[in-house]
Amino acid sequence: MPYAIEFEHISKSYTFEEVVLSDINLNIEDGQFVVLLGSSGCGKTTLLKMVNKLLAFDTGYLRIHGKKLSDWNIEELRRSIGYAIQQVGLFPHLRVWENISYVPKLQGVGKEERKRRALELVDLVGLKAEHLDRYPRQLSGGQRQRVGVARALAAEPSIILMDEPFGAVDEQTRSQLQDQLKRIHRQFHQTILFVTHDIHEAFRLADRIVLIHEGRIIQEGTPEELVFHPKEEAVRTFLGKRGLSALLDQRVMDGLYERLQTGALDVDQLVSQLKG
Ligand SMILES: Nc1ncnc2c1ncn2[C@@H]1O[C@H](COP(=O)(O)OP(=O)(O)O)[C@@H](O)[C@H]1O
Ligand SMILES: [Mg+2]
Repeated sequence: MPYAIEFEHISKSYTFEEVVLSDINLNIEDGQFVVLLGSSGCGKTTLLKMVNKLLAFDTGYLRIHGKKLSDWNIEELRRSIGYAIQQVGLFPHLRVWENISYVPKLQGVGKEERKRRALELVDLVGLKAEHLDRYPRQLSGGQRQRVGVARALAAEPSIILMDEPFGAVDEQTRSQLQDQLKRIHRQFHQTILFVTHDIHEAFRLADRIVLIHEGRIIQEGTPEELVFHPKEEAVRTFLGKRGLSALLDQRVMDGLYERLQTGALDVDQLVSQLKG
């Protein structure tokens, strides 16, 4: 099976002075939850937007499900990739259910079926049937964010791109949304490429972290690998004490425990990593 997403020697500059991304090589397996982590301005959004062709790259190749980006029909590509961003970007004049089923409508799905799916989706993201007929302005910020996630899931995309989607909500809502997203991923196994600068969020969500610094991938791996085996000083500097505390986060520990249970991680491996 081909990789869901392949970046090969991707580079990008907006201006002559600044190289924003240099020689990005990254293969993302089907069904993986990958987090692009790094400080503000390191190039995460730029990299993400290349996947659904919102931005072009200067050199290299990008393949989606084995097919070169340039060979994809752009409409077909965008409809098969879910996209959720911090600003949410709901249509203010459309009701919640119409916002959620915007792409299915373009795909020709009938009204009753779209309403039925919207109901399933609001339930999945922790909203209620009564929210379906509201307009975005009649929702809280957290609720709008949930609608944004539901909309990204609506066309049953195999790939979902998320750019700091929970950045603007309060801590408690953010935790709930993270748990829900993790549950959705466990249930449906979409390929998720998620951008954040928040180490705790990254460690809670990711199967695999891709750490970006000044437009370069400086290390990729599990949270344990990054914390216990930093490949260069910039990794150590970025993670610092926050890395260790994020690793000891209860929900990260739960994930670790789960991976031990399913055999995805073995005890010897874990112990040797803990010993450093
Ligand atoms: N449209 C643009 N024109 C010029 N420079 C840009 C543009 N968009 C982003 N940049 C620059 O590219 C770098 C990476 O930006 P971005 O990908 O948004 O970073 P991140 O999402 O990691 O915060 C930053 O230095 C930013 O200032
Ligand atoms: Mg960004």
